[in-house]
Amino acid sequence: MKDPEDSEMSDDVPPPVAMMGLVTGYWVSKMIRVAAKLGIADLLAGGPRSATDLAAATGVHADRLYRVLRTLASQGVFVEDEDGRFDLTPLAATLRRDVPGSVHGFAVMILEDANWEAWRELGWAVETGGVAFQKAVGMAPWEYLAAHPEDGQMFGEAMTSLSASQNPAIVEAYDFTGIGRLVDVGGGHGSLLAMILTAHPEMRGVLFDVPATIENARRDRHINTAAVAGRVDSVAGDFFDLLPTDADCYLMKYILHDWNDDDALRILQSVRRVATPGTKLLIVDAVVPPGNVANNAKMMDVNMMVIMGGLERTEPQFRDLLANAGFLLKRVIATECPLSIVEALPA
Ligand SMILES: C[S@@+](CC[C@H](N)C(=O)[O-])C[C@H]1O[C@@H](n2cnc3c(N)ncnc32)[C@H](O)[C@@H]1O
Repeated sequence: MKDPEDSEMSDDVPPPVAMMGLVTGYWVSKMIRVAAKLGIADLLAGGPRSATDLAAATGVHADRLYRVLRTLASQGVFVEDEDGRFDLTPLAATLRRDVPGSVHGFAVMILEDANWEAWRELGWAVETGGVAFQKAVGMAPWEYLAAHPEDGQMFGEAMTSLSASQNPAIVEAYDFTGIGRLVDVGGGHGSLLAMILTAHPEMRGVLFDVPATIENARRDRHINTAAVAGRVDSVAGDFFDLLPTDADCYLMKYILHDWNDDDALRILQSVRRVATPGTKLLIVDAVVPPGNVANNAKMMDVNMMVIMGGLERTEPQFRDLLANAGFLLKRVIATECPLSIVEALPA
């Protein structure tokens, strides 16, 4: 039997053992989520502590917590010393809430009940081509988040923690010189737009999103910071309908991967309707690489299938989609984070 090229499977681990590790992967995810929800990494910021001490601080069963932490330590998340005290490792430190690149919000959100229920329907989604979240929960994710403010807050925190690590890499990777007015389409609370405008004091920006999100963004800090206030217009609307006009650049981060090709095409056609020759379109999304190489985009692609009925795309898929909407893919720019910038111009 031929090993797949680029496979990262170690020759030292017998295939059944390696497979057992993969099959039981969700045990580790669940344990990480318990530790994240209890805030164990934050409690260890001041130095090592015993499971008994941590259990008292979090109000849980000491022996059960010890067994979970011992197992996580066997995976490199936390480390146990000879005195039975647990300490942070570089992996465990990413679960602190207050560090750059924190994964805490994402670790809590990605396994919350509705997402977990949706993943239970993966087999059904593969059989039918349907959206697992819709089947499991009975509504679309955006409706669910609106109806469950606590989960909506959790999602917001997860996106903020992801963005905090990704935005600087995006701003760094692209030369925004010459862009006078930029529209961030589906820009959320505006953290990326604010960072771009801060780096480019001559630029003006438009934050465009659904009404509820724009209201939250107006209350949030990003577009109100002194460095950018006065240079941002916040506009509520629907990107399937009418977008703000007269911009030199339309940016959309984490938008197209939420949608199947038909809907993604409709969003791109909305941009095409307001674009003029030379208007730039920047799509910030993961780009799935060819071959068997391990890549987060492939994992996220299946998550998008389950949760949204969307997908992560390859470069040829982006090229075709853009061409159908009347755009020419000019180049794909890698960044220091897992996202790339797909630059396009009206054809
Ligand atoms: C995954 S979030 C990405 C947010 C932001 N661009 C980021 O990268 O953090 C998708 C965004 O699309 C917005 N959105 C969804 N449907 C929309 C619509 N029909 N019109 C405008 N915005 C929409 C959501 O409110 C949300 O802010």
